[in-house]
Order: sequence, then structure tokens, then C-alpha cells
Amino acid sequence: MNWWETDFVAVRGNKLLVAGRDAAALAERYGTPLYIYGKDRILERYARLEDALARHSPLPSRICYAMKANSHRGILRLLQRRGAWIDAVSPCEVETALKAGFPAERIIFTGTSVSRADLRSVFAVDRLTVNIDAAEQLDLMSEVKRDFPSRVIRVSVRWNPGIGRGFNARVITAGKRSSDGTPIKFGVEGKKVLGVFARARKLGFRPVGLHQHLGSGWVREDFPMVRAAVDRMVRKAREIEKAGFPLEFLDFGGGFGPRYLKSRAVFPVEDHIAYIARTVAKAGLGVKALAIEPGKYLVGDAGVLLLSVEYVKESYGNIFACVDGGTYNTVPRPAIYLQAHHEIVNASRVDGPVKARITVAGNICETGDVFGRERMMPLPGSGDLLGVLCAGAYCRSMASNFNLREIPREVLL
Ligand code: LLP
Repeated sequence: MNWWETDFVAVRGNKLLVAGRDAAALAERYGTPLYIYGKDRILERYARLEDALARHSPLPSRICYAMKANSHRGILRLLQRRGAWIDAVSPCEVETALKAGFPAERIIFTGTSVSRADLRSVFAVDRLTVNIDAAEQLDLMSEVKRDFPSRVIRVSVRWNPGIGRGFNARVITAGKRSSDGTPIKFGVEGKKVLGVFARARKLGFRPVGLHQHLGSGWVREDFPMVRAAVDRMVRKAREIEKAGFPLEFLDFGGGFGPRYLKSRAVFPVEDHIAYIARTVAKAGLGVKALAIEPGKYLVGDAGVLLLSVEYVKESYGNIFACVDGGTYNTVPRPAIYLQAHHEIVNASRVDGPVKARITVAGNICETGDVFGRERMMPLPGSGDLLGVLCAGAYCRSMASNFNLREIPREVLL
């Protein structure tokens, strides 16, 4: 069995099966490029988190799906029916979640550089929780609140615990600076948190929670630092409770992902959940619920992008499989983040005797438009089908019409 095989992507007769169906038949039916998502895989991931939370914590839990990862309507509906909550980051995400059936009380809005117009939109949604990103945001909030004189607006505070982790500098969201020196824009600095709670209450908001999100794409090696951040969060929560602000929930954010790469040590998600539960219990906090905000974990490896090889090109000794889609329009992660790896499988012949170093080149006018660089794989032929794995998270949602190319169709099976 190949390391990347799951109940969603598997091999039968040297050909790729996606959600139990022949990839070639799906490509034939729907055309390529094509995104395919698997309901069962998403539900299996959800159940794992739910079980871990239930096993380790006596508190009710909230699995807030970070819908920025993939806001496909069918996926939202599926998770809504399953009881998920939503982490939304824009008014349009809030609206989309509501349309998919999520009740407002199961939506937490975590904006950054939030505008008055954003606030007006989210304050209009009764019972939603607004996560405050900056002490300075309270001035705008207070101004906009005047238009909603009788509304009880639930707020939480996104604080920056001073520790961030992520698979590259662009997605580390806590700490003073990212690993490449970029100042981190998110969250409220530790020493200002209590002041935000106090001022929010004074302005008539109802503070209900504390939130942190360290970044995206942790690996096993990050676990000690992630634990240290959990400790800080719990200490901060105690300080807040002691100051007279009872907390309904603690939200530990997302960041744990699927296995993108064979050599990658997968983050121990269950240990993480157990650690959170244990630390919260030990601290004797009065919180009523624990929240997490998975994006990648729930949908990442529940998606595949199918591409067709148009022709194979050789130039200066480089071999390119030239495919009928571009990264920017389909799986932009490798073009945006040097470190983003997506395994690529020849769906027409998963294994073959003649292997070569293949660069899978898209149809966009940029050198960075390669799905994979010099991958050792069976030499493809014209008409072969390639599967780009782990294409469920931050692929369709970050795809653009760059070069005026279309964004592919999606099917949820
Ligand atoms: N909560 C908050 C407040 C977030 O900002 C994010 C992601 C999540 C939860 C979910 O993180 P996840 O579990 O999916 O790692 N475009 C990047 C990922 C950026 C994530 C930004 N925030 C990528 O393609 O890797």
C-alpha cells in the first residue's frame, strides 16, 4: 500500500480510485481539470476529532470548521448536519454559513483589519460571536453598536500568546514576528487582554470567550511549542476569570493538518486534544466549552484534483508533464508557498517500470506554475490522468482566474 492511500484515494489494478470510483471514469464524465471531494472522508475526520474530545474532556466541545479552507456548499451542509460550528473570517463567509443552515449561535466571526461595514454586517446577525482582533477595534465596534441599541452582542478576544507555529512564514499567526521577520498582525498582545475584556463590557458588549490560533500546518516537532502555547492560554484564562469575567468557552484554533508529504511527521492531533483537556481540567477553570477550529484537518486529504496530460516535453534535460490546468486556478499552494507539497499520482498507471524525474507544469505564464518539481514517477504519456492529492483545503478557496482561466468544477461524492 502506498503511504498516501486512504479510504478516499486508493489503487486498484494499478489505477487510481477516488471515493471508490475509477478516476478515469470520473474524468470522462465530468471533464478535467476536476476537483473531487469525499463526504465519507470528511465525516471520518470529523468523527475522530469528536471522539477524541469526548474521550478526553467532560466539557461540551465545539468543532468550528474553518470554512476558509473550503466553502463548498455541500461540504458546509454536511458539516452543519453533523453538528459542526463555523469559524468565519468575512461577512460573506458568515452569510454563506447561514445559507448552508448554520444557526448564528454556532458561528464565530474572527476578522482582521475589520471595517465598520464588516462590523455592521456581523452585528446585524443576532447571537453570533464576534472575536476581537485588536484593542483598537473597540472604538469602531462601539461606534457601530449605536445602530443596534437593544442587541446583546457576544464577543470573545483573540489574543496573541507570543508563540506561533506553521509550515512556513506566511501562515504563522502568533508571536511577535514570523520566522522570516514579518511582524505578526493578528490578535491582542498579552498585557492588553484584560483591558479589552473590561472595556468591551463597559461598552455594553458581552465578553464570553478567549481565542488563540498559532498558525497552520504544524508537524510533530511543533508539539512542545504548541503545548507551551496551550499552557499560556489556560494561564491567561485564569487571570481573566479571576478578574471577574466568567468565560463560556476557550477556543484553541486550528493548525493541524493531513499528511501532505511522506517524510512529514504528522502532528499528534489526539495527544494535542488530550493535552488541552487535561490542562484546562487541572486549572479548575469555570469554562463551559472547549473549541477548536480545524480547516485542513477536516477537508485537506478529502480532495483530489484530476488533470490530464496534454503532452510530455523535454527541454535542456528537464522533462515536463504539461497538463490542462494551472496551479493558480486549481491548486495554488505550491505556487504561493515554496514549502507546500502536494503528492502527484499518475492515475492511469500508478506504478510503472520506466520512472523519470517529472516536473508537472501548468498552463499559466509563470515559472512558478508547477504542481510538482522533479518528482520521481512513472513516465506519463499524452492522455494520462494525474491526481494531485490533498487538494481539499485552500485550493479551490484560493484559486483565481489568473490568465483568465476558469476555475474547475467540483464534485462531492
Ligand atoms: N482559525 C483561524 C483563526 C485561522 O486563521 C485559521 C487559518 C484556522 C483556524 C484554520 O487553520 P487550519 O486548521 O486550516 O490550518 N492558506 C494556507 C493556510 C492559511 C490558514 C489561515 N488561517 C495554506 O494553504 O496552507
